[in-house]
Parts: sequence; C-alpha cells; structure tokens
Amino acid sequence: MNTAAIPNTETKKRWTAQRVLHIASWAPNLFSLRITKPAGFLFTPGHYARLGLPVGDESPIWRAYSIVTAPHEEFLEFLVTVVVGGNMSRLLTGITEGAEIMVESAAMGFFVAAQLAPGETLWMLSTGSGVGPYVSMLREGSVCGRYRKVVIVHSVRTSAELAYTEAFRELAAQHAIEYVPVVTREAGATALAERVPLLVDSGTLAAHVGEKFDAETARVMVCGNPDFTADMRRVLSARGFVPCRRGLSGSMLFENYW
Ligand SMILES: NC(=O)c1ccc[n+]([C@@H]2O[C@H](COP(=O)([O-])OP(=O)(O)OC[C@H]3O[C@@H](n4cnc5c(N)ncnc54)[C@H](OP(=O)(O)O)[C@@H]3O)[C@@H](O)[C@H]2O)c1
Repeated sequence: MNTAAIPNTETKKRWTAQRVLHIASWAPNLFSLRITKPAGFLFTPGHYARLGLPVGDESPIWRAYSIVTAPHEEFLEFLVTVVVGGNMSRLLTGITEGAEIMVESAAMGFFVAAQLAPGETLWMLSTGSGVGPYVSMLREGSVCGRYRKVVIVHSVRTSAELAYTEAFRELAAQHAIEYVPVVTREAGATALAERVPLLVDSGTLAAHVGEKFDAETARVMVCGNPDFTADMRRVLSARGFVPCRRGLSGSMLFENYW
C-alpha cells in the first residue's frame, strides 16, 4: 500500500493532502475514487475539484474531476475514465487505498442546475463519465423540488459502464425521477440503444418517458463526450432552446467532459 506523505510547504495552502478511502471498479476503463474531504471544503453539485499527484521530482500533475458526492456527505468521490496513454490516468490507476492525493482547496464550475430558468421537467443527459455531476445533484436533491419530474439519461457503450445504476434506481423509487440507461453497443441491453441526440430529435426519448420535450416546459443539462455535447447543442438550438449565459438563465446548459 502506498501511504507516502506528500509534503505541503505552501503558506497559503492552495491544496491539502487527502487520503484515498476506496476504489470501486465499474469496468476496465472506469472506476470511482473515494477520498477524505478537506476540512471546510464547500461546493455546489455540478462543481469540480482539481486532484493532483506527484511525479518524482517534477511538478505534480493536476486534473479536474466532477464531484459525485453531495455536499452533506463526509467524503468526496469522483468517477474516473481511464484515458489510454494519459499521464494522470497512469498515476491514478496505480493508486491504492490509503495513499495520499492532493486536492485544491476551492471547488469550481458553472454546470449548476440553478442556472436554468424554472420549468416543468429537467432532462439530465450524459455520456460515459459525464453522468458524475448528476449523481451529486440527485443525492443533494434540491432539483427534485424545482421540477415536476427529473429524467436522467445515461448513454454508454456497454452495460458494465452504467456507473451508479443502483443509486439511480433507488432515487427513482423514492422521488419523481426517471432513470433511462442507453447502451449503444450491446444489442438488447436497454430499451433504447440509439445515440441520445437522435433519440431527442426523433421524439423517441420523449415518447419513452411520456413527457413533452419542448423549449417552453423542458430544461436540459448536457454533460459528456464533446461530440455529443456539440450534437446536442445543434438539436436543442433547432428546437428553440436557449443557452444559459453569464447572469442570464436559459433552457439548456452544457459541460464538456474531456
Ligand atoms: N480525455 C478525457 O478526459 C476523456 C474522458 C472520457 C473519455 N475519454 C476517452 O474517450 C474514449 C471513449 O470514452 P467513453 O468510454 O466514455 O465512450 P464514448 O465514446 O464517450 O461513448 C459513451 C457513449 O456516448 C456515445 N456517443 C459517442 N459520441 C457521441 C455523439 N457524438 N453523440 C451522441 N452520443 C455519442 C456512445 O455511443 P456509440 O457507442 O454510438 O459511440 C456511447 O453510448 C476512451 O478511450 C477514453 O479514453 C477521454
């Protein structure tokens, strides 16, 4: 077990050393990383934290990861995709429980549900590890009070990559939440198997859920693969959805996840 202490000699402490509590593998390329939470660490669901790992005598490598846990939970958790050839991925896949990891003191981000104008239904659309921020939002729960229904759509290649599927099913059993998994490369794994922009554009997703998907009543969050977010932007713009701009609420909100 790697328990080496990371020295922090900074006077202002832009970061603290935290400890890895648990690593849970979903698929060969996907795992959840649970770590201790810095004292007084504040964030809003949808925010990301920057994690750092030392590389010998060189400067540490830092990467941003969306927080999956809710603010009231006592630890921080992140959903990590292993990027082949990626420096941070190489370091993170070698990390073990008990090891130290650096966490920047301030969480950041604009992918916050409160940016959206009020509406009737909230559609949380995601691919791959882009589902992470929605886990935090739904565990915190305040979005459920602002919408008649919340629909969480998670598109992955294979069913093993449906991270947090049990958590979503449990939340859906207790609240006005509908969970729609979409597996695109495993015939028959899910009721819907086409790419999400196509499912929205054809009306198939709306029909499956039994709700309207229009700019008057629907609010849409989009998080994941940059090609997916670009495709969704085109589909939603053509239907009259308006992006959130600094200080101005809109009907669609995007986060590129890579
Ligand atoms: N650099 C990073 O931070 C980062 C983060 C995540 C992933 N990655 C890399 O990206 C690769 C794939 O990531 P992944 O496993 O999450 O798979 P992915 O290619 O993002 O696929 C996940 C889901 O998104 C769908 N999808 C892909 N492109 C789409 C588009 N333009 N519109 C709508 N849906 C789309 C896929 O459908 P189809 O099956 O139809 O393609 C699949 O259902 C991995 O090799 C990983 O290393 C990099």
